[in-house]
Amino acid sequence: MIPGTLGTPGTPSGTRVLLLGSGELGKEVAIELARFGVEVVAVDRYAGAPAMAVASRSHVIDMLDADALRALLEAEHPDVVVPEVEAIATHVLAEVEAAGTRVVPTARAARLTMDREGIRRLAAEELSLPTSPYVFTDSLAGVRSAVEQLGLPVVVKPVMSSSGHGQSLVRTPEEVEAAWETARTGGRAAGHGAVRVIVEGFVPFDSEITLLTVRHAGGVTFCDPVGHVQVDGDYRESWQPAALLPGVADEARRVAGAITEALGGWGIFGVELFVVGDRVLFSEVSPRPHDTGLVTLVSQDLSEFALHARALLGLPAPDPLRLGAGTSEQAAASCAVLAHGDGVPVFEGVSEALGVPTAQLRLFGKPSVHGHRRVAVTLARGATVDEARARARAAAEALRVRLV
Ligand SMILES: Nc1ncnc2c1ncn2[C@@H]1O[C@H](COP(=O)(O)OP(=O)(O)OP(=O)(O)O)[C@@H](O)[C@H]1O
Ligand SMILES: [Mg+2]
Repeated sequence: MIPGTLGTPGTPSGTRVLLLGSGELGKEVAIELARFGVEVVAVDRYAGAPAMAVASRSHVIDMLDADALRALLEAEHPDVVVPEVEAIATHVLAEVEAAGTRVVPTARAARLTMDREGIRRLAAEELSLPTSPYVFTDSLAGVRSAVEQLGLPVVVKPVMSSSGHGQSLVRTPEEVEAAWETARTGGRAAGHGAVRVIVEGFVPFDSEITLLTVRHAGGVTFCDPVGHVQVDGDYRESWQPAALLPGVADEARRVAGAITEALGGWGIFGVELFVVGDRVLFSEVSPRPHDTGLVTLVSQDLSEFALHARALLGLPAPDPLRLGAGTSEQAAASCAVLAHGDGVPVFEGVSEALGVPTAQLRLFGKPSVHGHRRVAVTLARGATVDEARARARAAAEALRVRLV
């Protein structure tokens, strides 16, 4: 890479990006980078991960294995390292950053956000941002005393987990033990010694939103808020724009601006917020594209992936244009398609799904399913959020996933 330029892949002038995590979000990032002639090297712990299909080359390693990660970084010598998942040996990222390689957005942001304790203490205790009340503990007795302190209901989550894994809602004292067991066995640390959890007071929110925030060479850009519905801690539907009172939208930008500024660096962040009346509570943040932000593939001229690509290359990112503003297709929605069972996904009903007005599909190309797995997303637009959501859902219902 020649500083300040974009060159030709495979030559000394080329820019090489190492994508750590190669899921469906990384696949879209890889496509956007390829459009700038960037060489993308995709990495994941299994072969055939979605982004590998569109990358220049790929590697299969355990990204939590510091030695394996270090060896790969030495062999590939990337210009930019882009974490796409939380489960990474983040101290190795700090080492390469110290040696002059750009880590997106920063190695510190990757470290703080992979652990609920790091990011929650930064938000609530250092930045004084409003959050749910919380207690960290590493024992069943600790969870019981947290419940006494916070009152029921509470949500118990392993500090190292994502996509709702190991997370439970506790409504009665009898449910505490099962929640501890779920947290002990469902997080990333399961089987690797002590388990630490956060016990959060349950927030009876009116809505939850993701505020996609881009930090880039030209400043800070906020996308229109994305509304979403989660089931079992995992996203099912999202839409944009989420209707917010003007004061709430301002407060959401203030909170998102504060947490992303504290994390620093260049890239997109998915800031998860709860809206309760006219209050906005910070929940968590991903220093990378967010799954609920898949809707931006049809709602904005520059999707969250396109914005991320620009930002991480050190380029300025303009305010994205909302597609269809002022027309009969000014709202957009996405609907996750899940497969259940064991086998290789085969999609039936693709033509019917695409027959829904405005519908688009992204089939991730995941090699297999064991249990529950998101394998595709439908996208649609409409005059209102309700119409866009109904279309995205109709497309998802038309698409049938068979596991063979
Ligand atoms: N304190 C809380 N009060 C009410 N609902 C909550 C609370 N914490 C989490 N939830 C619900 O559970 C969802 C998942 O929680 P959270 O984002 O903390 O977990 P996660 O495992 O990191 O999920 P993901 O990786 O999908 O973002 C939230 O989006 C929200 O719907
Ligand atoms: Mg979340």
